[in-house]
Parts: sequence; C-alpha cells; structure tokens
Amino acid sequence: MSKAVVGIIGGSGVYDLPGLKDLREERVKTPWGEPSDALRFGRIGDTEAVFLPRHGRGHVYSPSGINYRANIDAMKRVGVTDIVSVSACGSFKQELYPGLFVLVDQFVDRTQGRESSFFGNGCVVHVSMAHPVAPLLQKRIAAAATAEEIPFVSGGTYVCMEGPQFSSGAESLGYKSQNFDVIGMTAMPEAKLAREAEISYATIAMVTDFDCWHPDHDHVDVASVIKVVQANAANAARLLARLLADFPDQHEPCPIGSDRALDNAFLTAPDA
Ligand code: ADE
Repeated sequence: MSKAVVGIIGGSGVYDLPGLKDLREERVKTPWGEPSDALRFGRIGDTEAVFLPRHGRGHVYSPSGINYRANIDAMKRVGVTDIVSVSACGSFKQELYPGLFVLVDQFVDRTQGRESSFFGNGCVVHVSMAHPVAPLLQKRIAAAATAEEIPFVSGGTYVCMEGPQFSSGAESLGYKSQNFDVIGMTAMPEAKLAREAEISYATIAMVTDFDCWHPDHDHVDVASVIKVVQANAANAARLLARLLADFPDQHEPCPIGSDRALDNAFLTAPDA
C-alpha cells in the first residue's frame, strides 16, 4: 500500500481549495507539455492534497485547449493516488436541479480531436473503462457530503461534449432522450487518462443549469452558470475539506482495480 495523496481538479469557478495548510506551489514539467497551472500542495488534517485549477488561473484554457495529459501526468509524478474532479454541468432531469451535486458513475465521450491517451504506436494499450469511476472514492465523497448535509445524488451518466459552444436544442433533446443525466465539457479525456495513469478517479458534477431542452427554462449562459457555481462554492469547499480530513492515510486498493489498470492492458510485445 502507498500513502494516499488526493488530487483535486477544480473546474469553472473553482480556482482554489480553501483550508489547505502548509501551502506551497510548484510548476511541474511533463513530457506532454505544461499543466494548466502550478500545482498547489497542502494538507487538510493529515491528508496530503494537490490542487490544480483545470482552466488555469484567470480561466485561460478552454475545454478543448486544456492539456489533459500534462495535468494527469503532473499529478502522477507527485504521487497522487486519487483524483476528485469538480465540474459544472447542465442537467437533463427535472429532479437534478441547479446546486445539486451529482456523483456520476458513467461517462459518455462525445469530444473530438482531444489527445486522449498516453499510449499509441509502438506501445499499444487498451485499458478498461467499463467502470470509469472508482467506487470506494465515490463512497467517501458521498459520506463526506452526508456528514456535511450537502444535497447530492449518487450515480448518473455525464455526457462530455466538445464545446466550446453550448448544445443546440435538438442536441439537448437528443441527449435527454438517451437518458443521460448531465452534460459538461471537461471530464473526458480526464477520466480516461487517470485510468491509464492508474489513479482512482471520481467526479463531483455540480449542476448549474437545465441546458436548453425544456421550454420553461432559460437557455444556458455563462453568467448564470458562474452565479450558481459561486453560490455553491462554499458547499464544494466544505465537502472537499471533510473528504480530506476523513481520508485514510494509506491508499486502499480500488475494488475495480482502477489503480492496477495496466496489469492486463498491454498488447505490444515487450521485445517488439
Ligand atoms: N457546463 C455547465 N453547464 C453546461 C451545459 N449546459 N452544457 C455543457 N457544459 C456545461
């Protein structure tokens, strides 16, 4: 077992992690280029945490322009065992209202052209994405939300679109009819790369809007998304603080093997 180190990737409107003690920053170099920002190291209780704002300080990287490989590689290099990502999202269900946290357990990747693997020609690897979210990590997040009395639901499918434009009405209705729960622009390929890096991964999808499928809801705009994120940032911070304070010292093996994902994933012969 290795020491647990929790990486937090903050999305739109979540640019720092309040309550981190012994804060220090480091710019980590990777073979894939620059991560979105310097990593911020600190701890809450006895748990070491590493924070990275996905869009960079000042929100300079668009969902299509984020260097997801550099972000995940940097986290791996500094010993992160578990990643919790926070992502604003639109909702396709009446009961998933703005402000609710959805602990999604499935992703559908509708992105195009993003670098989505550390592997390729010469080293062919196929990891399983059947269960993209690490269940033990998700349970810990649910326990933290329950302890802090923060409204959440466990389970749901997050469809990741390319953006940067929001969906058309027809696209939104199409996603809804496929029974997707929420939509965002950033969880993919982040979740895939975390799996290839053998880092347990879970997403807190913060509902900010009803996208544009419902005639009675306003269509989505950035100002209203940010307003909801800001109104719920304190809840996100409390949830994360509790999660970290209660986190076990040692990384416990993931029940579905997300931390051993490469064990049976190589196709290229070792001597090829
Ligand atoms: N992020 C927040 N709301 C969104 C939406 N409706 N579609 C895509 N990404 C989002």
